[in-house]
Amino acid sequence: MANPYDSVQARLAALHHIIDSRLAELAPAGPPSEGFNKAIRYSLLAPGKRLRPIITLLTATSLGAAERDALDPACAIEMIHTASLIIDDLPAMDNAEYRRGRPTNHAVFGEDKTILAGFALVNQAFDVIARTETLSAETRLALIKVASDAIGMNGIIAGQELDLRGDEQEPSLDSVQRAHTLKTGALFVAAAEAGARIAGLTGSNLKAIRSFGHYLGLAYQTRDDLIDRFRSRDEAGKDVGADEHKATLVRILGTQDAQSLSLHFMESAIRSLEAYGKATDDLAAMTRMIFGDGMTIAH
Ligand code: IPE
Ligand code: IPE
Ligand code: MG
Ligand code: MG
Ligand code: MG
Repeated sequence: MANPYDSVQARLAALHHIIDSRLAELAPAGPPSEGFNKAIRYSLLAPGKRLRPIITLLTATSLGAAERDALDPACAIEMIHTASLIIDDLPAMDNAEYRRGRPTNHAVFGEDKTILAGFALVNQAFDVIARTETLSAETRLALIKVASDAIGMNGIIAGQELDLRGDEQEPSLDSVQRAHTLKTGALFVAAAEAGARIAGLTGSNLKAIRSFGHYLGLAYQTRDDLIDRFRSRDEAGKDVGADEHKATLVRILGTQDAQSLSLHFMESAIRSLEAYGKATDDLAAMTRMIFGDGMTIAH
């Protein structure tokens, strides 16, 4: 019997491919900063899962938008994500050595260039959104607001600051979930909301898709913390075993409960999509596929 996920898998692979191709075009190349541009391209074009831009594209097209209208904003979301990763890896942050299957950006180019590359990527993300001429000025402005919210004091920056402080105090379930909501959930919300806005949704019609992004982000970060604990560096493509001193749900709840909570968040994400009926079936299937390995953990 055919696997019902086969066609979704093929669609995700196709989206991954067009995102990679477009990122290669959008990434800076050539003079006047050839050397520095290499640092940007090194991390942006490294083999990431492209999950956030896939969410933007799949949300947009599921809700009726044309793929070409969503591609550049989706790439902008990936630029912001990549910036967040190379900054997260810096010695002053997580002090990581390996990312996306290769040495971290600062290990190759130096911390000074990595900091500038992070700024450059965020800046370019806004430029890409502003230049998406197939979208109305109003939609572009809304996307810029969505992206800036996800980065700033309601998003990644605030969450990363909480994450750093989590080292110092006894973590509670609430404080960890708050950090996850901001450092990871905010960009998932932005990825999904951007897709919905490109498809023309506004106001209260965005509530359910935002809820989808929020719960998916919580599920994903919890799973990521399990990966840190139980997967090898080669499987993860990045440093593992680095979170022992961190405030994580794995530390607070233990492995089994953290795994259950991750799947519970995943179900909440999928339930949020019910508001859109069958249109978002592929998004729901994609969500199940992300967690499809059940993160089976030896214990
Ligand atoms: C890593 O994200 C950071 C987290 C929020 C867990 P991904 O696991 O999606 O990393 P890439 O984009 O595939 O490298
Ligand atoms: C980082 O969380 C989330 C970001 C905002 C980059 P982690 O520090 O757990 O992400 P990884 O494990 O390094 O990818
Ligand atoms: Mg971190
Ligand atoms: Mg990290
Ligand atoms: Mg992690």
